[in-house]
Amino acid sequence: MTILITGGAGYIGSHCCVTFLDAGYDVVVLDNLSNSNTASLTRAEEISGRKLVFEQGDVRDQATVETLLKRHECTAVIHFAGLKAVGESTRYPLAYYDNNVIGTHRLLSAMANAGVRDLIFSSSATVYGEPQQLPLTEEHSLNPVNPYGRTKLIVEDMLRDLAASDPGWRIGILRYFNPVGAHASGLIGEDPLGVPNNLMPFITQVASGRREKLNVFGNDYETRDGTGVRDYIHVVDLVEGHLRAYHALSNLDGRDNCFAVNLGTGDGYSVLEMVKAFERASNRIISYDFVPRRAGDVAECFADTKKAQELLSWSAERELHNMCEDTWNWVCKNPKGYSD
Ligand code: NAD
Ligand code: UD1
Repeated sequence: MTILITGGAGYIGSHCCVTFLDAGYDVVVLDNLSNSNTASLTRAEEISGRKLVFEQGDVRDQATVETLLKRHECTAVIHFAGLKAVGESTRYPLAYYDNNVIGTHRLLSAMANAGVRDLIFSSSATVYGEPQQLPLTEEHSLNPVNPYGRTKLIVEDMLRDLAASDPGWRIGILRYFNPVGAHASGLIGEDPLGVPNNLMPFITQVASGRREKLNVFGNDYETRDGTGVRDYIHVVDLVEGHLRAYHALSNLDGRDNCFAVNLGTGDGYSVLEMVKAFERASNRIISYDFVPRRAGDVAECFADTKKAQELLSWSAERELHNMCEDTWNWVCKNPKGYSD
């Protein structure tokens, strides 16, 4: 069985390659390397002891994708390729609609032509928008508040329409909460370009001395210590959820051939709890200042995990200390990321 993994050289995709190679699948990666490096794929091969096929290309190039699906006789697609920075999406919305929406449309058209109709799609908890009640269940209203989130919702709607039109499609939509951490080997991990937008990479760079201080965005939220609470999930748990979701596709029948599931732990940690946990894992002091809230942030966001347990027989196993220790191990072994 050969799986096409789009965006497979990226942070989550490279971990997914390892999980699928370890499970015995053959893997073909399609990536345009706009936010990644082939070193992650060489490392994924090193970890699993198996080879994968890398094709440099763009998901928006329908003819290339179709040829590739046919040539490698792919049976399913896991679709990670896309742009993911909320702030950037407000400055360059057209780039986000082009890459995420048009890119997925072309991919789906290529799949239809090649007769490949099993798909796992990377969505995000950002599709829920401001939580009306917590924990967030999959039935929560979908009301994203930024262009990035809207591209994810448009793709989700496109997938639901496609599944309804033809019982041959089997589609799993996975809504990620906050993926963090790295493979326990320290060979692959997150390697953001420039100043990190997200909390964990920022804390990491303060711990390693690349940045002086963390700015904590707001200490006046109605949370246990006033700072924002999120559901951080270890990236290896997350990609194991993809393997379970892929297996779950074969249990779908034609009447109910598309599901959307949260991938989170169900636990929320505050910014200050993350700082403390990382200090323990790294044995370093993380200096921080409180600064005003970041526009668009919510106080708390965490998943209801029941549906994932029931439908996928999956729940996250790794704890906060594993997320911090594995991140620190990756950073210590690769202080300059993949450019070492
Ligand atoms: P990433 O940027 O590390 O990986 C994305 C990969 O896709 C990169 O290797 C990039 O080069 C490639 N790519 C981008 N556009 C492409 C295109 N048009 N054609 C081919 N390749 C292309 O990001 P990630 O963190 O691994 O995220 C993967 C997916 O998960 C994205 O769809 C993202 O929106 C989604 N997601 C991520 C998070 C997160 O916190 N990391 C949270 C929710 C959802
Ligand atoms: C952000 C995105 C979300 C995306 C997710 C991917 C926004 C509004 N949301 O989620 O759509 O799916 O990343 O991982 O951008 N924080 C600080 N200082 C920092 C960075 C963050 O205090 O330098 C705080 C934030 O205010 C928040 C928490 O840390 O309370 C987590 O922030 P972040 O890692 O950016 O994730 P989200 O905002 O949850």
